Amino acid sequence: MGRPLLEVERVSVHFGGLAALSEVSLAVEPGQIVGLIGPNGAGKTTLFNVVTGLIRPARGEVRFKGEAITGLPPFKVCWRGIARTFQLVRILPALSLIENVLVPLYFGRRDGGAGEAEARRLLTLVGLEARADDPAHVLPLADRKRLEIARALATRPELLLLDEALSGLRAAEAQRLMELIRAIRAQGTTIIMIEHIMKAIMTLSDRVVVLHHGEKIAEGSPEEVAQAPAVIQAYLGPHAPSAASE
Ligand SMILES: Nc1ncnc2c1ncn2[C@@H]1O[C@H](COP(=O)(O)OP(=O)(O)OP(=O)(O)O)[C@@H](O)[C@H]1O
Ligand SMILES: [Mg+2]
Repeated sequence: MGRPLLEVERVSVHFGGLAALSEVSLAVEPGQIVGLIGPNGAGKTTLFNVVTGLIRPARGEVRFKGEAITGLPPFKVCWRGIARTFQLVRILPALSLIENVLVPLYFGRRDGGAGEAEARRLLTLVGLEARADDPAHVLPLADRKRLEIARALATRPELLLLDEALSGLRAAEAQRLMELIRAIRAQGTTIIMIEHIMKAIMTLSDRVVVLHHGEKIAEGSPEEVAQAPAVIQAYLGPHAPSAASE
């Protein structure tokens, strides 16, 4: 294995007395899809906030391509090559779809970026080219999620962080979005996806990392993680039948 694209080393975050993350470490190899799972409040979104510079950890380090990025402001993390989507979709509702993609495309670029042709290519990739000139606020949730992904891709990330991209979608919509996630990885973008939908995590992820109460409790292939007693307990509670008693 070569050098990891992203390394999170012993990161801790506290909110008052609550340990949202305790000494969490993980490494992501280029080209992987990593699933990040855990019950509600486990610290998943907080970890994305640390990696993208929204939250500075009390302790620990984040490295991207071998360089420390801990404490960099979000726009600088973005320039380094990390983009994200949000659990609650963030788009620019008053602007058209094409304008929504042009804003991050031009963001921080003196050369003006590749312009409208590139924005249209990204809208085509996510399946929204026919609606390029519609205002974003008319879109249903599934299309908002696609638009947000196009906006993230417009910053040309090497690493894309998806926070519950599939949640709230109907099965057929979720299936199509899973195909898009595969296509994005096939273009060379590494992905970490937070997801509650186990089927999606199990079919898409090369590796899965499990958080619970701010601690990493398991890591491995989807099959390994699904069978780990600590994971079964975290999801089903302390009275869950152990794997041995099946
Ligand atoms: N800005 C904040 N201030 C105070 N507490 C916070 C803040 N952000 C998160 N928390 C708390 O930290 C813990 C971890 O939250 P986080 O949002 O990372 O969980 P999560 O794993 O993403 O959960 P979910 O699956 O519900 O989205 C929770 O107890 C949450 O209430
Ligand atoms: Mg969350």
